[in-house]
Amino acid sequence: MVYVYLQRPDNGQWVVVGRYAHDRGGIGRFRYAPSYIESGARWTIDPVNLPLVADREWTAPRYAGLHDILRDASPDAWGQGLIRRETGVGENATPFHYLLNSGNGDRWGALAVGTGRKPNIAGLGSPRIDTLDDLVKELLAIANHQPAINPSVRRRLFATASLGGVRPKLTVRDGDTYWLAKPTIHTDITDIARLEAATQRWGSEAGLNFAQATYRSMEGGRGVVLVKRFDREGPQRFMTASSATLLQVQYPPVTPADVAGASYPRLAEELRRIGAPSEDWKELFGRMVFNAMVGNDDDHCRNHAVYYRERDGAWRLSPAFDVVPSTEDTPKTLQLQLSRGSREISRVSILADYRRFGFHAIEEAQRFMGTLIERIADTFDIIRDQLPPDMVEVMELRVQTNKVLLLGEAGPENKPARKPKP
Ligand SMILES: Nc1ncnc2c1ncn2[C@@H]1O[C@H](COP(=O)(O)OP(=O)(O)OP(=O)(O)O)[C@@H](O)[C@H]1O
Ligand SMILES: [Mg+2]
Repeated sequence: MVYVYLQRPDNGQWVVVGRYAHDRGGIGRFRYAPSYIESGARWTIDPVNLPLVADREWTAPRYAGLHDILRDASPDAWGQGLIRRETGVGENATPFHYLLNSGNGDRWGALAVGTGRKPNIAGLGSPRIDTLDDLVKELLAIANHQPAINPSVRRRLFATASLGGVRPKLTVRDGDTYWLAKPTIHTDITDIARLEAATQRWGSEAGLNFAQATYRSMEGGRGVVLVKRFDREGPQRFMTASSATLLQVQYPPVTPADVAGASYPRLAEELRRIGAPSEDWKELFGRMVFNAMVGNDDDHCRNHAVYYRERDGAWRLSPAFDVVPSTEDTPKTLQLQLSRGSREISRVSILADYRRFGFHAIEEAQRFMGTLIERIADTFDIIRDQLPPDMVEVMELRVQTNKVLLLGEAGPENKPARKPKP
């Protein structure tokens, strides 16, 4: 049994929000703490799967008995690998094992776990940005299975490792800002960190809400991307939920339903259902167009998220993160369906479910899409020099080709696809 702690969005206090028990049969149960409910707290930790109800036990339908939101607060492939190295468990360790053995320091969102009845908030700090070089060197040594350069730095990296994702990563703090740092690794065929930083900037230049990112070069010609964490601001953490959680699908997918349920228009509907405003549904539509244009086919369910903003009193679509164009051939499909049943990168597929994103008429969606595509193509010039040199031509060609493909014959003026009635 573990206690689940939450940093309250209003006053920053850490409280026990509930408890989670996992029995031998693999059944996981979560219950909100009576003290939490009696305190007048009104925040659910998962707006889809765990409504705030007193005296009710919720069993977890996915992840071998771990609730989706606790799975979100657990590591994926990178952190899981470190935990296996540290604890000696095998490949078939349970999701609960990874939750238990990952630290609260860099954990995603505003949840933490522990065995004490009182929230234990020791060890929540992140290393300072001026130690970045040493941290990254050690991180790369871990990734390359090399001996420790500095054992205490290595211990620190092993002790956190709670964030998701496949790539090596760590978090550093610079004043009130927290940065997720991801270096290029030796198996990357290009300087991925540089590509990611440039693409995040590109999304912002095109008018979308992308997490701020910068690139730092390191010894040896490759570098590290620093992405601003949207779930941290000074001492305050913000609640988060992945789109896998909102869509009630597992990522990585296990069942056919996990694949069938992963879709942009469904996600737009979930945003609406949990109270995010229409600008967020359209922003999501815009990100789908952006991913199609730049060929980011790693747009899976853990690469989209919402976070809770106290000042809005609502869950909002988070800034976009981990948007990285494929370094292989130009993708023909995305990970999520663009419209019901279709993952194909095409004009028809993007526009087919326009209503589900909150557009009232297809012309409105076409105009939005047309303007955005022009902006993405135009702003390429701003980021061209920030790309890895070997990706400039690839991306230039890709954007030109996709612009023609996605604007279709109607061109930028976006003449209605339907024939006017005689
Ligand atoms: N800017 C951010 N602010 C807050 N959390 C973030 C941010 N970027 C990423 N995360 C969290 O960290 C996780 C891992 O980050 P990211 O997706 O960039 O890593 P990755 O290893 O490249 O992932 P993937 O396995 O999808 O390639 C995300 O799934 C998300 O939970
Ligand atoms: Mg990711």
